[in-house]
Amino acid sequence: MKARHRPTGPHPILCLILSLLALTAPPAPAQTQQVQPIPKIVSQDGGHALLVDGKPFLIIGAQAHNSSAWPGMLPKVWPAMKYLGVNTVELPVYWEQIEPQPGRFDFGVVDTLIAEARRNDVRLVLLWFGTWKNGSAHYRPEWMKREPRRFPNIVGRDGKAVDSPSPHSKEALEADTKAFSAFMRHLRQADPQRTVIMVQVQNEPGSWGSVRDFSPAAERLFQAAVPEPLLRAIGRTADRGKSWQAVFGDDADETFHAWSVAHYIEQVAAAGKAIYPLPLYANAALKDPLQTGRTPGYEFGGPTHNMLHIWKAAAPSLDVLAPDIYQPPAKVLPVMDQYRRPDNPLFIPETISAAPYARFFYAAIARGAIGYAPFGVDYTVLAADPPGASRLGEADLQQLAMSYRAIGPMMREMAQWAFEGRVHAAIETEDKAPAEIALGRWKAKVRFGVSPRGDPKGNDTPIGRVLVAQLGPDEFVVTGFYAKLEFEPAGKDAGRPWEFLRVEEGQFADGRFQPVRIWNGDETDWGLNFVSAPQVLRVRLATR
Ligand code: DGJ
Repeated sequence: MKARHRPTGPHPILCLILSLLALTAPPAPAQTQQVQPIPKIVSQDGGHALLVDGKPFLIIGAQAHNSSAWPGMLPKVWPAMKYLGVNTVELPVYWEQIEPQPGRFDFGVVDTLIAEARRNDVRLVLLWFGTWKNGSAHYRPEWMKREPRRFPNIVGRDGKAVDSPSPHSKEALEADTKAFSAFMRHLRQADPQRTVIMVQVQNEPGSWGSVRDFSPAAERLFQAAVPEPLLRAIGRTADRGKSWQAVFGDDADETFHAWSVAHYIEQVAAAGKAIYPLPLYANAALKDPLQTGRTPGYEFGGPTHNMLHIWKAAAPSLDVLAPDIYQPPAKVLPVMDQYRRPDNPLFIPETISAAPYARFFYAAIARGAIGYAPFGVDYTVLAADPPGASRLGEADLQQLAMSYRAIGPMMREMAQWAFEGRVHAAIETEDKAPAEIALGRWKAKVRFGVSPRGDPKGNDTPIGRVLVAQLGPDEFVVTGFYAKLEFEPAGKDAGRPWEFLRVEEGQFADGRFQPVRIWNGDETDWGLNFVSAPQVLRVRLATR
């Protein structure tokens, strides 16, 4: 006889009790653990820290090429990032991809970026390629490109069209705000782990080839009174009712454009932030940091150093205005000093990866930077030299990779020390001059080059660099490459005899320094010599 079918699940009353318990019980522990605090930027005594999972985090980063954030390209991205040793990858999100038809969003690619970043154990900074990309609007979806009247570009002084979107288009602003909001809404629900730690709103906004929009609509605004919030923010309320020309004179055109672009981006950013308050930033194609006054030939309207006050007034929802540093070496530190301000954390979202630029990573940390990232790190571009090579750029990346590997394991400590202003750097300059670091009752003398028992005379390429974190009056963490570092007493102790109490080589793990050996004898009698190994030393000193 066939057995009578009997239900095999729990008794219905038990089911009811279980579901009532589920309604009142706290969420399952696995789920709770995954929800991390939303990253944020905190400021103290003029310095800043990016908090990720509630603690200071240093973005040891890199950005892929513009057309690499596609699922089919990612296998060529992760290995390059791994070679460099990053903890954060910057990848674009393309408006044309996520909104193929008005109001129809597709976040499949974004989800792939997030899932693969998690698998590769890195965080993401996502770049909203929206209205502006390098001053143009080439990432607008096709349906917008087909309607140039609704979504206009700007017009130059000569009345000719300029390949740059108008910041005065209400329709474009509305469309961008809607798309960016949808993107942020998606991130909020797709990323409780906070794999995405920051979002760039637009890319190098502004205009190449025209200082501002000269269309009739823009002209009307330009002739009208300067907006009250701007006058208030820059302390010029006495100029209430005056035109841009009357208030800003020779800088009127550029200031008007900067305000207009920043005001547009503020509205996009504010809408996104209201949905999901991740740290947001805008990046700048730079104006020559050493030239003051009006110089042609840069992108107008973006957060260039001369327009930072306008952007700060116009776009308070942006936590950071960040320089993309593609300047000659002598201009890199001046740029960092222009963008590191009590009201602006230093973050370098793009720079050159080549060996002579590797030293600037340490200089950035010592300036309290929250992150650093060279541009163009992936294997999507095949190498031309040597012919047939497939790994373009590894030789270039090698020096930075060495620094990234030295700092990576102590990234959390470094971020905390940098926030507290305890980190100092000495980097080789083109003239190979020695450097000195003031460390309270000590100073560190640094010479660049490799000469373990002698007098280093500089490296062929200026790649020498050291980083010193001062943990206490007589205690330091020191790391470096291609340099010799010597301590000596300073101030009222200058000239006194002294000695190393202990020099330990090791690494930080789980918040603790784990020594592997003590340096002594030849390793300390000739100064602390750093060559190519990522060595981290904990040093304690005493006068006698
Ligand atoms: C700066 C831009 O922000 C990047 O997207 C890229 O176009 C690089 N320039 C190319 O060097």
